[in-house]
Amino acid sequence: MSLPNEIATPELNLEATSLSSGSPSPQERGPGGEVERQADGKRPMYYEYKPAETVKAAHGTTLRCKTWEAEAALRMLENNLDPAVSLVYDELIVYGGAGRAARNWKEFQTIVKSLKELEADETLLVQSGKAVGVLRTWPHAPRVLIANSNLVPAWSTQEYFDELDRKGLMMYGQMTAGSWIYIATQGILQGTYETFGAMATQHFGGTLKHTVTVTAGLGGMSGAQPLAVTMNDGVCLVIEPIDERVKQKVREGYVDEQARDLDHALELCEQAKAEGRAWSIGLTGNAATVLPQLLERNFKADIVTDQTSAHDLMDYLPEGDINEVLALRAANPEEFKKQALASIVKHCQAMLDMQERGTIAVDYGNNLRGQAEKGGLQVRDENGQFLYPGFVPGYIRPLFCEGKGPFRWAALSGDPQDILRIDRALLETFPEDKLLARWIEKAQAKVPFIGLPARVCWLGYGEREKFSLVINDLVARGEVSAPIVIGRDHLDCGSVASPNRETEGMKDGSDAVADWPLLNALANCASGADWVSLHNGGGVGIGNSTHSGMVIVATGTPEKAERLRRVLTTDPGMGIFRHADAGYELAQDVARERGANIPSLNV
Ligand SMILES: NC(=O)c1ccc[n+]([C@@H]2O[C@H](COP(=O)([O-])OP(=O)(O)OC[C@H]3O[C@@H](n4cnc5c(N)ncnc54)[C@H](O)[C@@H]3O)[C@@H](O)[C@H]2O)c1
Repeated sequence: MSLPNEIATPELNLEATSLSSGSPSPQERGPGGEVERQADGKRPMYYEYKPAETVKAAHGTTLRCKTWEAEAALRMLENNLDPAVSLVYDELIVYGGAGRAARNWKEFQTIVKSLKELEADETLLVQSGKAVGVLRTWPHAPRVLIANSNLVPAWSTQEYFDELDRKGLMMYGQMTAGSWIYIATQGILQGTYETFGAMATQHFGGTLKHTVTVTAGLGGMSGAQPLAVTMNDGVCLVIEPIDERVKQKVREGYVDEQARDLDHALELCEQAKAEGRAWSIGLTGNAATVLPQLLERNFKADIVTDQTSAHDLMDYLPEGDINEVLALRAANPEEFKKQALASIVKHCQAMLDMQERGTIAVDYGNNLRGQAEKGGLQVRDENGQFLYPGFVPGYIRPLFCEGKGPFRWAALSGDPQDILRIDRALLETFPEDKLLARWIEKAQAKVPFIGLPARVCWLGYGEREKFSLVINDLVARGEVSAPIVIGRDHLDCGSVASPNRETEGMKDGSDAVADWPLLNALANCASGADWVSLHNGGGVGIGNSTHSGMVIVATGTPEKAERLRRVLTTDPGMGIFRHADAGYELAQDVARERGANIPSLNV
């Protein structure tokens, strides 16, 4: 099947002017030199509008907006930008390469003002991180509607998007960055824990004890990997070129120890593996350099994967001295991208070679295989299937068939006690779910709260509705001190079309059908969500995915209970519909058992 990126796209008219354009005046630099990426003088950031006080989510019960729903959107936007949460605060970059929360500082200020002024029956429209209109709608309609990074399909390439982005007309929203429901690395931790757990079950008798996983990337999402491996009792070696990121993850407790060099790292891995001790080791280095070195030394990992930001060539760091590499990115982006692609090819080739030697290789949703293919590497077999699988078809799809996905909530009070109270309620609501109990126990012990206290766990169709009502009840009874925001990642069972990731290898070949996430967003609006978003390019890069998000705020009112009931049935229900329609019997059985109404199953 030919990929949409192969379609020739029209030339961008760079002569056109826009109200959004302006000239940047960078005043500060990010910790790893990332700001240099923008120092080409093209992308307007409006630093003169940057708030004097560092942005962080407000806590407590004092409202700055006219409703809790608008206040929740404002706090979650602020939370995404909190420097403890975001990757490059100065650039409004939250995670996942260049995933932003607002288009620039000026638009951030406009969004904040609009949210503060928003009436209880108004809806704010946000287009690629810019407030573009306020509509009179209904009290039970969404307070915010967001569309980020979307392009007409034939124009939807990274290059075309980058031109618009530099011109100040768009921004990359990733999945939860531009839709204001990012909850720092914990957000992905549960999904990563589930994936490594499924790998343990499929290949290693239910535990990663006495196994070594090699991976790369210690950024927003990727930083969850080492902890997810140790939570499954395994050993993890994680490679990251920016030394400060390794140190940061050690400080945060996501990595146990930083190795001095490769020899030291391998010694630590062997030791922990032999002892059956869960341990994670961070190594400052480049995956494209280190993986071939592992092969040269005949080091055999049990699992190899990768979560560098390979989806965008401007964010994958090519081999070489890190300072020179970052300087090259600022000075000569085209040459940088060429070198990044060459390194990706080398990195992916090393993963294939490791697989050849018996290591289990899995793609972790960053499109490394797709990019390597663009670079000329053969990554598919004669049937067009990838030589090593993506994590969804490999391990997660059965969960999607049950409407399971990353359900998450954040305490608007800012009080960790609220989350711990909800943890207790969760265990009481699903007492038979041992995996869930293990997750909560491990999360409480090992997952630091960063930004607004939050929790994530995977719940399925029926379970999400049930638990959302428990949360609403806790708010109503004052057992938690403020309303609770309930949302999810766009990486979910019925909210994303992404042929190299969530919808890779669908049973009926419908991998690239993007009607589903569009229906998901429409259905969530119709059901009463508080903010709904539709994005392009999350996870795997512009043009490679379409996905939607939803958030609803449990305020404790009976009216909110009704809306929670509908939204939290609709949303995972889309996953059942999508997978049942593609022919997955498990999804069809779940639909019949739990009463999801699918017309074609009733005739
Ligand atoms: N599978 C999933 O569930 C999932 C979820 C979210 C994001 N993603 C994808 O995972 C990728 C990482 O996301 P993130 O939020 O961690 O991004 P990020 O930009 O926050 O972090 C990526 C990290 O990779 C490092 N890196 C870059 N090149 C490298 C190289 N050659 N060798 C080693 N490390 C290198 C960077 O320095 C950075 O620290 C993205 O492509 C994202 O789209 C996957």
